[in-house]
Amino acid sequence: MWALFFGALIIISITHWVHRWRNPRCNGTLPPGSMGLPLIGETLQFFAPNSSFDIPPFVKERMKRYGPIFRTNLVGRPVVVSTDPDLNYFIFQQEGQLFQSWYPDTFTEIFGRQNVGSLHGFMYKYLKNMVLNLFGPESLKKMLPEVEQTTSKRLQLWSHQETVELKETTATMIFDLTAKKLISYDQDNSSENLRDNFVAFIHGLISFPLDIPGTAYHECLRGRKKAMRMLKNQLQERRANPRKNRSDFFDYVLEELQEDRGILTEEIALDLMFVLLFASFETTSLALTLAVKFLSDNPLVLKKLTEEHEGILRNRVDSNSGLTWNEYKSMKFTFQVINETVRLANIVPGIFRKALRDIQFKGYTIPEGWAVMVCPPAVHLSPEKYEDPHAFNPWRWEGLELNGASKKFMAFGGGMRFCVGTEFTKVQMAVFLHCLVTKFR
Ligand code: HEM
Repeated sequence: MWALFFGALIIISITHWVHRWRNPRCNGTLPPGSMGLPLIGETLQFFAPNSSFDIPPFVKERMKRYGPIFRTNLVGRPVVVSTDPDLNYFIFQQEGQLFQSWYPDTFTEIFGRQNVGSLHGFMYKYLKNMVLNLFGPESLKKMLPEVEQTTSKRLQLWSHQETVELKETTATMIFDLTAKKLISYDQDNSSENLRDNFVAFIHGLISFPLDIPGTAYHECLRGRKKAMRMLKNQLQERRANPRKNRSDFFDYVLEELQEDRGILTEEIALDLMFVLLFASFETTSLALTLAVKFLSDNPLVLKKLTEEHEGILRNRVDSNSGLTWNEYKSMKFTFQVINETVRLANIVPGIFRKALRDIQFKGYTIPEGWAVMVCPPAVHLSPEKYEDPHAFNPWRWEGLELNGASKKFMAFGGGMRFCVGTEFTKVQMAVFLHCLVTKFR
């Protein structure tokens, strides 16, 4: 009798729990969608491998079923996914007010708990200024000749090889450039290879977060540990042998740490260094590789691009001088090519935030504490926003604003958290394309 009673009680409790899981509490109408299986939600479907540049199948299927705003559950966390340009824009504009930058625990494990994406308020502004100092226009102007020389040398080297694995080689080129700028790292004079630790990264970052040997996630965490150890050793080495003149980011960080204003800690500085190294080479190398592919598939675009760069050489007083900042700024069509490439590349498939209170939007309620995922590919490949959205057509950007974000372009994010490396990426891509079409065609 008692056994029957307890059995019934357990069944009722489980049924109630499953019902609650599927129908979370909300002071209004939740967006449509499914919360998936208890505990794991729709995590497995979300992390299913996808190597296409189309809208991720997970999102595409649900957009068809539920519309542009839907709910799900990922790694035990309720999430509203937005493919709606108005909601995306609203989310970016409300950073720090109604929404706050937030990334799943798996990301924070990989990028560090003190990474720039997880910091807010004063500390966030302080770090952003540090990065802007490093990769802002003044600094990039000085860097331009170095970027041109490095790119030229690499292209020269590749021109003697039968085949080149472009993604890998451009990633190494950009990694070396950024590592030099940040920590004066020179692979040829180093006993350990810092770059090797980042190899497993991109696979691990968007993988099921299972930390056991053999999984992509585990490899990724192992890479992080090794890279962080190397960065820490190098920072300590520099502390022991400080330089007279501030020449790289390490010097800057050490100066800040020594001032001891109680703002920057070594942990925050190392997490920042790690994020910058990763963010700079993995994203830009993918964009460059795709740019080359798109150009070889579209001879008319290549012709127009070549004309622009030959025009720059023709207008030079000294034909042997290097690229100037003014020349870089004059590359109108090149910037259209870059925008079109990053629109189609959809390098960042999801941008995460957390709702700071109950938010009403288009008849739905996003409950306080829920995560929100903005999905840029859904906007960039929408036939309502772009005519023939899968076509590579740089001319579609003619006369449009090419800097910053808009309701239909968010490859570099938007609002207060707009990517601080945008100009650095554009410099590297523009210089690469310049060298490619003027010297190595
Ligand atoms: C094609 C190249 C790139 C793409 C597509 C890209 C994309 C993005 C996106 C979408 C965000 C916004 C994330 C958010 O709102 O949560 C972002 C932020 C960021 N990016 Fe980039 N990025 C690129 C290159 C770079 C480079 C070269 C660097 C380093 C120099 C960099 C450093 C950062 C940092 C530090 C943030 C965080 C900014 C913040 O939280 O305010 N990115 N990037």
